[in-house]
Formats: sequence, C-alpha cells, structure tokens
Amino acid sequence: MTKHLLTITELSSSDIAGIFAIASRLKKKPFSKSSVLKNKVVGLIFEKPSNRTRVSFEAGIRHLGGTSVYLGSDDIKFGVREPVKDIARTLSRYVELMVLRTFRHEDVEEFADYSTVPVINGLSDLAHPCQALTDIFTIGEKLGSVRGKTLAYVGDGNNVLYSLMYCAAKMAMHVRIAMPARYSLPRGVISDAGVAAKRSGGSITVTTDPSEAVKGADVIYTDVWVSMGQEAERKVKMAAFKGFQVNRTLVEKSGRKSPLIMHCLPAHRGEEIAEEVLESPGSIVFDEAENRLHIAKAIMVKLVGDDR
Ligand code: CP
Ligand code: NVA
Repeated sequence: MTKHLLTITELSSSDIAGIFAIASRLKKKPFSKSSVLKNKVVGLIFEKPSNRTRVSFEAGIRHLGGTSVYLGSDDIKFGVREPVKDIARTLSRYVELMVLRTFRHEDVEEFADYSTVPVINGLSDLAHPCQALTDIFTIGEKLGSVRGKTLAYVGDGNNVLYSLMYCAAKMAMHVRIAMPARYSLPRGVISDAGVAAKRSGGSITVTTDPSEAVKGADVIYTDVWVSMGQEAERKVKMAAFKGFQVNRTLVEKSGRKSPLIMHCLPAHRGEEIAEEVLESPGSIVFDEAENRLHIAKAIMVKLVGDDR
C-alpha cells in the first residue's frame, strides 16, 4: 500500500481487502490496537464542515492511543496565509499523520507531495476514499460478500460516486450509474474504472434512466445533488436532477423485496432521497455511518502501525 490515501485508484484489491480485515477485527475489539498511535499526534485540516469524518477520525485516534489537533477553515487558509507546500513541510515536523478535507483535490495532492508523514484524504472535490471503503465494507457485512453484487447509484457524478465506483469495481461488483449527462463523471474516468472492474470480474454501466439502473439491484445508493462549495449552482442543479430522486416508486422498480438503501450522509430529504425511503427498514445509513469509525481506524493502522 502507498504511503498516503488520496484516492481509491492507488489501492489494489488486496489492499482494500486488508483494510476490511483490520476494520472487522477492530469492530469486534475496538481497543485491541490501543498503542498504534501512542505518543503520536494526528493533524486534521478541514476547509469544509464535517460530522462523520471529523468525529470518526478524532474518536478513532483516541482508540488507537493518540491525540489530535483540529484546524478549521479559519485556522489554516490554503494558499492565502501561506502556500500549501509550506503548511505541509511545517506540520510534518509536528505530527505523525494528517487528515485533510479540502475544496481543491490539487491541494491535498500538493500537501502529500511535500509532507513527510502519511496524508489521508477526508474528502476533496474529486474524491472521498474513506467513505467508499466504508460503503463497500458495509455492503459486505450486510450481504455476506460483495463479489458479483449489483450496486445502483442514482444522482450526481460527484466525489462520492468517483470513489465508490472505483472501490466497487476493484471488489468485483457490478455498478450501474444513473446520472444526468450534464453532471456525469468524465467519460475517461468511467472507462478507466471499467477496466478495473473487468479485471476483477465486475462491470460498470452508465445510463441517464434511474429505472434502468435500479433494475435487479442489491443496493441503491445516492448522495446530495449540491455538494459543499456548489451552493451557487443549486437552482440549476435542482432542475437538472428532476426524476432522479430515490423514492418508493423508484425503489419498487428494482423488483427486489428490500434492496439496501445507502447514503453517505448528510442527506437532503425531499431532494435526492425521500424521507420514507431514508427511514425505511432497508435503509442502512446509520450502520454505514458507524462503519466510518472502524474503517478510519483501519486506514490509520495500515498507514502508521503494524497491521497484523
Ligand atoms: N459522509 C461524510 O463524509 O459525512 P461528513 O461530511 O459529516 O463528514
Ligand atoms: N458530495 C458531498 C459529500 C458529503 C459527505 C459533498 O462533497 O458535499
């Protein structure tokens, strides 16, 4: 495994399986690795708000015996107060690991280039690898295994989809994506993930028709239509995503009695997902949210500690 975790593309299928194995063990015995971060400090730089990512990392750091320093958007201003490369080279002298939530993916990349300690991407405009690892891990827990299972994603071609698609592809899942053409992930990215899927025995298909994507799906996944930082596009995006809501009618079109319903949260009820679907028995969104903790710990163990 590489020194940093910036995107899922850097991970092999066996790296992913390794992270899942550690997460499973830590879920059963949360304090079994309580000295991995002993005498170590983890820095968190968050340019955007967070509930799950920040708290799962901060709690996980303490479970692993370490401490954390949180730097919010007013503390460190990338490229405004000082260049990213200077921030990275300074903080590397104080801490043993970094978690970053940035607007620009280029900032997390530049930070990692100059950092002498491992860097974890806790969401950038391009990618959300910690979420994707959690999601596929959670599907595995619920369905016994993920190989050959069908995951339908309905919504925006965003950071969450980017990472989810690669992670599912590498773990031999069939991914069906429904998104409006205007808000699609770039064609090159989809075909690159398609190659990874083919190699593992999975597949990726893209449509603009949500009903087609959900047909026979084991899992239906969605995320917000307006991501953090896109607020100015809200009106235009609301119109573009009409017909893409995950509601009861769409879920019934899966033809499955109770497909798993997933969402990385926070959800915008009444927009990308109907309240009754989010609160339905098939919804596993809080088990998914819980698993952010176990996966965050597993990633840190993999990057910093011994992973036996
Ligand atoms: N899913 C997720 O990353 O949630 P937060 O934005 O609350 O961290
Ligand atoms: N796509 C969302 C995910 C939040 C966890 C965003 O970037 O705001």
